[in-house]
Amino acid sequence: MSASRGRPIRLGLLGLGTVGLAAYDLLRRNQDEITRRSGHALQVVAVARRDTQAARRCVDDSVQVLADGHALVTHAEVDVVVELMGGIDPAKQWVLAAIDAGKHVVTANKALLALHGNEIFARARERGVVVAFEAAVAGGIPIIKTLREGLSANRIQWVAGIINGTTNFILTQMRQKGLDFSSALAQAQALGYAEADPTFDIEGVDAAHKIALVSAMAFGVRVQFDRVHVEGITQLQAADMRYAEQLGYRIKLLGITKRVDNGVELRVHPTLLPQRSLLASVEDAMNAVMVCGDAVGSTLYYGKGAGGDPTASAVVADVLDVARLMDADAVHHAPALAFQPSAVDDGPVLPQDEVVTSYYLRLRVRDEAGVLAQLTAILAQRHISLDAVIQREAQGDEATPHTDLIVLTHAAREGVMNQAIAAMQALDVVVQPVVRLRREVFA
Ligand code: HSE
Repeated sequence: MSASRGRPIRLGLLGLGTVGLAAYDLLRRNQDEITRRSGHALQVVAVARRDTQAARRCVDDSVQVLADGHALVTHAEVDVVVELMGGIDPAKQWVLAAIDAGKHVVTANKALLALHGNEIFARARERGVVVAFEAAVAGGIPIIKTLREGLSANRIQWVAGIINGTTNFILTQMRQKGLDFSSALAQAQALGYAEADPTFDIEGVDAAHKIALVSAMAFGVRVQFDRVHVEGITQLQAADMRYAEQLGYRIKLLGITKRVDNGVELRVHPTLLPQRSLLASVEDAMNAVMVCGDAVGSTLYYGKGAGGDPTASAVVADVLDVARLMDADAVHHAPALAFQPSAVDDGPVLPQDEVVTSYYLRLRVRDEAGVLAQLTAILAQRHISLDAVIQREAQGDEATPHTDLIVLTHAAREGVMNQAIAAMQALDVVVQPVVRLRREVFA
């Protein structure tokens, strides 16, 4: 079938790793279909990669191979720069240089946008170019477009997502095989799910980058990565996975942002979810994002959040969008962060102490009379209501008899819960640090 054709759109790929190569291949593989959709041929005219010989082996002879990223982003024949190199430096300076040179930019770089998005989007507006970033959040799942366009009639109430595949894989292994955290991480690394340095994933930083962008798009606030409360999964123990299961829950690392009366909640932490909930059933390295809007109710988006082809799917879709917009006046571009820049506010992000949620507590205690009474007194004094308590024989080699008490509470303000935990910790009968996890229902 022949496609109607505008002028070809010329692309420069900054970075030619797994995603860059996948995007290059996808553009070729689906060339006809993409042209039918966009009305333009999308041609890669240049790539930049430090190892130019390796790059040369991967692309057609017609593609110019450069070692210097700056030369690519200012290249006279490049209309759209596709930044897939990651990191902050030199990605930031090259993205800004591309914008200054009047190029549209497509990027998968969540760290860059979480830290410097406000500056980058403002510069792009000044220059009348687009910075598109679908691939930066949840890989192949079109959650950015959903927030910007599909749900734009709604007042968004909350977004909760499994937005890091590496940690979801680790948690799934811990639960299914009873592994401890370090064995599950080693398995993730052996299978190529985790980076050699997995710090950003397991400490929750990668998810925090993504939820900071999502929050801005959901609520029309600035990107506030520095305000995200971040806890990763490194402290989770096999015992907690087991107890959660026995109580009817699964533990997932969630990025959460909610609109509440006095501001916006913005947090990443391991979370107990009811076993039968949709998010709880998202396993292995899959991602899923739930968005609740006042008109639409709850909606769920599921798919692969990483990997060459799924990420390239988002990258190329952005390129297609940009191609359609090339000849439109900048005033007609959808705002990058979903709200008109003049309407964006600094909506206060709530300090974590003010967040209200319910809790899972695990206490390793001496197995003797009156322990439970002391603990419940501490909670009762602070008006924290109990939902469930179970006692399980501690699996350890301690000489004195110890037991695990697992307590589920009803909703409480985190600052109050912190006081209660400190008071419990001070009791002689509590022999190890109290483990505290948050419990949520997203339905
Ligand atoms: N490290 C990320 C993950 C890759 O595990 O989900 C995609 O951002």
